Amino acid sequence: MSEVASRLVRLSKKLSHASSKRQMSIVGDHPWHEPRGEALWLRAPEKLSLYGTPYLQLASEGELRRLSRLELGSWWHGFIVFERLVTEYYMRLINQGVFAELPEVVEYMHHFCREELNHCLVFEKAMRHFDVPMFEVPDAMTDFYVDNAESGKYPLVSVYLTLVIEWIADLYQRMDVDGRGVSELATAVVKEHTREEARHIAWAQEMIRSLAHEVPEFLESARQYTPVFVRQFVDAGVANVECFQRVEFKHPAFQDVETLVQTVIDNPHRRELNRGLLSPVMRFFVEAGIYDDAYSDLWQAANFSEDIRIAKQALAR
Ligand SMILES: [Fe+2]
Ligand SMILES: [Fe+2]
Repeated sequence: MSEVASRLVRLSKKLSHASSKRQMSIVGDHPWHEPRGEALWLRAPEKLSLYGTPYLQLASEGELRRLSRLELGSWWHGFIVFERLVTEYYMRLINQGVFAELPEVVEYMHHFCREELNHCLVFEKAMRHFDVPMFEVPDAMTDFYVDNAESGKYPLVSVYLTLVIEWIADLYQRMDVDGRGVSELATAVVKEHTREEARHIAWAQEMIRSLAHEVPEFLESARQYTPVFVRQFVDAGVANVECFQRVEFKHPAFQDVETLVQTVIDNPHRRELNRGLLSPVMRFFVEAGIYDDAYSDLWQAANFSEDIRIAKQALAR
């Protein structure tokens, strides 16, 4: 076994051990007794999409609280849809014998899938608790693992895209609940999820570090699609049209949804939040060779040049 593969095996063993030692309880790990009232913030007000834009003053406090429920709920719903799909896909890979020569990796994938099933149940329960109805599921998401199905020795594309999505979504919801006055239950849902998700993220990072260079065509295409993919994912996550529509803002300015979305995306406060939040992800891209100077124009077009410059500087220290 190569040195890199043995690093992945060691980490998988360690994570399986941690996973079997403590598992999130669907019943006991969250304060489900918390009142359900409309008065709760689920997202810290300064983390709302409208914060720092002129729209903030045009919305009533009730509308903003409703927006906070919908915006955090939209990440939860994303997890519900995505973690079901990843579980189904990883179980299929296991059944097909992928990683059969690395049984420790397969064992960890079982833990991974069990955790995702639990997460879906907890997120569903939390959405019901806060009375946030389910969102539309875009076709691109339903077919995610069909479109990215692989025939190579290792399923690197799906592991990598799963990593990018889980990691950024987790960072976002952690940022959402970080602030005063946020519901204790919402905070606990996010915190307990992060505790287990951190293992999924570490495992996928190691998989990419260990195996990416063995599959040059994976690296070559990831270098090109990553900046575009991350830009679209982040922007769609921070300016969710369905959330705006469901609040039913009274002020007529909210009717021009296109301008509203663009204002939210271009908001300097949001850009600063994005930059801070994405900094560990950008460092990983540079360190794992996903970022390559040969494609710096693509990162520039996606507005990530400064993020990459900061990441390189941090790694050089
Ligand atoms: Fe999860
Ligand atoms: Fe996960």
